[in-house]
Amino acid sequence: MAQFTLPANSKITDGETHNAADGAARKKTFKIYRWNPEDEANPRLDSFTIDLDKCGPMVLDALLYIKNNIDSGLTLRRSCREGICGSCAMNIDGTNTLACTKAIDDCSGDIKVTPLPHMPVVKDLVPDLNHVYAQYTSIEPWLKADSPAPGRERLQSPEDANILNGDDGRGPAGCILCFCCSTSCPSYWWNGDRFMGPAILLQAYRWIADTRDEATGERLDQLEDPFKLYRCHTIMNCTNTCPKGLNPAKAIAEIKKLMVLRR
Ligand code: SF4
Ligand code: SF4
Ligand code: FES
Repeated sequence: MAQFTLPANSKITDGETHNAADGAARKKTFKIYRWNPEDEANPRLDSFTIDLDKCGPMVLDALLYIKNNIDSGLTLRRSCREGICGSCAMNIDGTNTLACTKAIDDCSGDIKVTPLPHMPVVKDLVPDLNHVYAQYTSIEPWLKADSPAPGRERLQSPEDANILNGDDGRGPAGCILCFCCSTSCPSYWWNGDRFMGPAILLQAYRWIADTRDEATGERLDQLEDPFKLYRCHTIMNCTNTCPKGLNPAKAIAEIKKLMVLRR
């Protein structure tokens, strides 16, 4: 039987241990992935035990407490701390999610924190998003219309706007491009060089479904490809993991349906 092992320099080693100060009342241990491209060492898992009475209730609060008080070298992205910018996406407790909206109390035992899976790592918890943003650029995510622009904005009926926003606010326009979905998709893990992945396909659908956009045929032509669209096998990891409760698998199914209808 074939056996697969990680290359020696990719194996994750045990890292440093930082204990909570004496007298800590509510202890919690975070095991955090660390990797620095400048020191040529293997990635490691550092262990930080902190007093939860010293930080806020979310995993991001704990990470920032660790960075501000224990190890200033810990590297992560964050901006809004409100689940809006998508920049704090990472794998927490085995699930891709947003550190700022993931409550520490929702995780049992030690909390393992690693970067989004199957992305190159820039440093520690920061994934390299260049490739996925190049894919985003390729779908031309802006409104395309040849008809003359009206004096004011191009208006939409509430029904048409609802296609984008969703009755429950969970339509494709709610996507924050955190890439939790794409990095949970096995098809994207193996074919991410050519398969667009759920985040980008949901974004493509957002423009295809926009009744003000006049480039639907062109957009569908661009996705009519055995890899870009059809590597989705409806495994549903993407929908299950989306921290905003969106349904990228349904958006992909809608694009496939439109492909069939226009034949
Ligand atoms: S439904 Fe498609 S895009 Fe979503 S996880 Fe499965 S294969 Fe990937
Ligand atoms: S669909 Fe959800 S998980 Fe995927 S990028 Fe958008 S907000 Fe993130
Ligand atoms: S910091 Fe913006 S989504 Fe978490």
